[in-house]
Amino acid sequence: MGNTYRIAVIPGDGTGPEVVNEGRKVLQAAGTRYGFNLEMTDFDFGGDRYLRTGEVLPKSAVDELRQFDAIYLGAIGHPGVKPGVLEKGILLRIRFELDQYINLRPVRLYPGVETPLRSKTPEHIDYAVIRENSGGIYTGTGGVSMKGTTHEVTVQSMVYTRFQVERCLRYAFEYARKFGKKARGRGEANTLGLVGKTNVLTYVFDLWERVFHEIGEKDYPDVKREYYHVDATCMWMVKSPEWFDVLVTSNMFGDIITDLGAETQGGMGIAAGGNINPEGVAMFEPIGGSAPKYTGKNIINPLAAICAGAMMLETLGEVEAANAVEDAVKEVTGTKIKSLSAGKMGYTTRQVGDLVAGFIQT
Ligand code: IPM
Ligand code: MN
Repeated sequence: MGNTYRIAVIPGDGTGPEVVNEGRKVLQAAGTRYGFNLEMTDFDFGGDRYLRTGEVLPKSAVDELRQFDAIYLGAIGHPGVKPGVLEKGILLRIRFELDQYINLRPVRLYPGVETPLRSKTPEHIDYAVIRENSGGIYTGTGGVSMKGTTHEVTVQSMVYTRFQVERCLRYAFEYARKFGKKARGRGEANTLGLVGKTNVLTYVFDLWERVFHEIGEKDYPDVKREYYHVDATCMWMVKSPEWFDVLVTSNMFGDIITDLGAETQGGMGIAAGGNINPEGVAMFEPIGGSAPKYTGKNIINPLAAICAGAMMLETLGEVEAANAVEDAVKEVTGTKIKSLSAGKMGYTTRQVGDLVAGFIQT
């Protein structure tokens, strides 16, 4: 038997545990077929634990998570907990403390999936967004004074260091070289597009743009470079998504444009992402929320969680298995399920997991 990977699983809130279970099923099937082992350890972080113990994430948690090869997350978000508590206390804390400085979010339309972009097919919607995941407004300095008065002042600043920008851009160039359209036999060039706002945010994005061209010219001359303003990017993501190959952008812009991207690929039932520390422990998650109203009904779509699992395999180095999972998902969207929406798939959550696992075994 081949490698053994130790995976920390955080099923989380709402429908998180249900979708993660289907992910496990599929990943184990891939392990059996491609000869590796996954040793999974569950952690009960989430809203229920918080309501029970008053603790969002125990002190030792991050150090424990550091011992694993990867983290597989279901969903965080509980109707009984004030918004922000779990998101900041679990998701963002893990991202920042494990220095997962890349958020990789492919935008790929699979066969049979309905997109709101009339006339667009899987040919047209096939790119990846690399979102800087450790800095910007998310971690910038700020504060409030005279709160509650008519003189209230608030500041929340976009802070980027050269170090943060450069490490993110280097990852993006490497990714474009390996997984760009030329590398995948789908185009003439591997193209990295920097998404910014150099016409207004003339300090922060000037830094991004300078480093982009400086290291691009020197170390990645084979990767074609383009620059787009973020607002225009939103238009093209709707009008001409086929222009894009690999995009790289700041934390806040990346957060916003990847929700738009997810919608164009069929929505939260399919969109997955990875929070990656290329030198450390990465965490993979379906982008959608915990969808509490569907909890326990066995009707939620597990494909986004399964796709997150495929990304995890790829990052662990099991590329063949990752591709097999993605191909199996395409079979299921292309030939089996009727819709990605909860309750409208024509199959239960568990049946969709069985279908994907079945295509991997054959
Ligand atoms: C995401 C989410 C998070 C973010 C929230 C829940 C903190 O929107 O993963 O995109 O803003 O990064
Ligand atoms: Mn978001």
